[in-house]
Amino acid sequence: MSDRVLIIDFGSQVTQLIARRVREAGVYCEIHPFNRVSVESIAAFGARGVILSGGPASVADFGSPRAPDGLFGMGLPILGICYGQQALCEQLGGKVEPGDHREFGRAMLRLVQPCALFDGVAAAGDEVQVWMSHGDRVTAIPPGFKVVATSEGAPFAAIANEDRRFYGVQFHPEVVHTPIGKQLLSNFVHKIVGCAGDWTMKAFRAQEIAKVRQQVGKGRVICGLSGGVDSSVVAALLHEAIGDQLTCVFVDTGFMRSGESEQVVSVFRDRFNIKLVHKDASDLFLSKLAGQTDPEKKRKIIGATFIDVFEEEARAVGGADFLAQGTLYPDVIESVSFTGGPSVTIKSHHNVGGLPERMNMKLVEPLRELFKDEVRALGRELGLPDDMVGRHPFPGPGLAIRIPGQELTRERLDILRKADAIYLDEIRKAGLYDVIWQAFAVLLPVRTVGVMGDSRSYDYACALRAVTSTDGMTADFYPFDMAFIGRVANRIINEVKGINRVTYDITSKPPGTIEWE
Ligand code: XMP
Repeated sequence: MSDRVLIIDFGSQVTQLIARRVREAGVYCEIHPFNRVSVESIAAFGARGVILSGGPASVADFGSPRAPDGLFGMGLPILGICYGQQALCEQLGGKVEPGDHREFGRAMLRLVQPCALFDGVAAAGDEVQVWMSHGDRVTAIPPGFKVVATSEGAPFAAIANEDRRFYGVQFHPEVVHTPIGKQLLSNFVHKIVGCAGDWTMKAFRAQEIAKVRQQVGKGRVICGLSGGVDSSVVAALLHEAIGDQLTCVFVDTGFMRSGESEQVVSVFRDRFNIKLVHKDASDLFLSKLAGQTDPEKKRKIIGATFIDVFEEEARAVGGADFLAQGTLYPDVIESVSFTGGPSVTIKSHHNVGGLPERMNMKLVEPLRELFKDEVRALGRELGLPDDMVGRHPFPGPGLAIRIPGQELTRERLDILRKADAIYLDEIRKAGLYDVIWQAFAVLLPVRTVGVMGDSRSYDYACALRAVTSTDGMTADFYPFDMAFIGRVANRIINEVKGINRVTYDITSKPPGTIEWE
């Protein structure tokens, strides 16, 4: 087992970023909510060090969160961040007061004495930029602690008791606005906690394969393959673990983008030699959706039809004992909610939601411990093609939710598919694919008048959308230069019969969503 660090979550919006940074440093970590940890659970987890996250509460408030008292007697190195620092101070005999200097945003941190946390990043007397976000502040540090750094609004911006290996920072090292933060967290987990940094996707691959073999034994596994990153990585990993005990079912809705269905078949059946059922169900999906234009009804019909087809195909191959799913770590983290007590946020995998219960199969979820960027790294490690592993997110209902306001037909899908392919081709050629979170074309339910050559045209308009985002929850439209947009529009109008006008969507999320439906 890799050396591991436990992050105790006090409900900060950015707790996940702490975990990301620690893992980027090659150290396995998990996030556990403060109200679910105890000295016993920390020991059982095998933590070599503990990080206390930030959080929205005030330590001065009655009943506000604390670390388990016994934590400080376990002999483990501890790093408190923001609220975590305040809780640590308060629990060890220091003092925290509501701040009259609230500090939000960039601040300058001045180092006053050397400290292992800042090794190689800053020396006494240096000033470095950090990101602050706090109301309360520490006004007296606990016995045995020294002040390591100060800022204008936080006289105890970084503190340490190096004998006990307890550290606290008022700022947020996990966000990119603290440029030294990455190194600081790396110093904590490597130099202070002493973790080896052996959490790599190469190691994970071997470890997970052994785990899957043990879980599955001689059982049979079925995996729904969509061509997306998560299900592709699950399929490749399981195939390596259990070979022909795995059958993949690719339900082709007919709403895939240009060339995608062919790629799934050629990669998994031809290259990896995986048992793959490719079910072309496009007629069925189109007939079920006949006459439908309401987005929610479309989604519901697509979801239900998908489950029916998947079940039928699973029965046709003789059933299975296990269903494989591409559940990721962000879907299983129990985050602390201060509005309604601790809440469990578990998002069911879009297309196969509800399947496990209906099909009475056990689940195999080999990606449960991974963040998305780790899944991509694992995919590369397993030899999946780069364009599959680095693919933009694509919704389960596919192109069906990119033809708003009109009935879905093969003709409309074909028009949209061609426009979308040209747009993505130009984005790739311009070297922009990887800086954009998601880009796609939408076929609009309006026809407009145009003139091509000497003739009048009366064709569809399409909209282009491109956004940047970190998690899909919020997004900004991508500011292409006009020459680029003009080039794409020209190509679409010239090459796609049926479209004579192109617009660019400049809505951010919120108030828009990324998809149009
Ligand atoms: P919205 O449109 O809500 O989308 O801003 C946020 C992200 O989720 C994707 N999306 C879906 N993904 N099944 C999925 O797997 C769906 O039904 C679905 N709807 C939206 C969307 O593409 C974006 O990345």
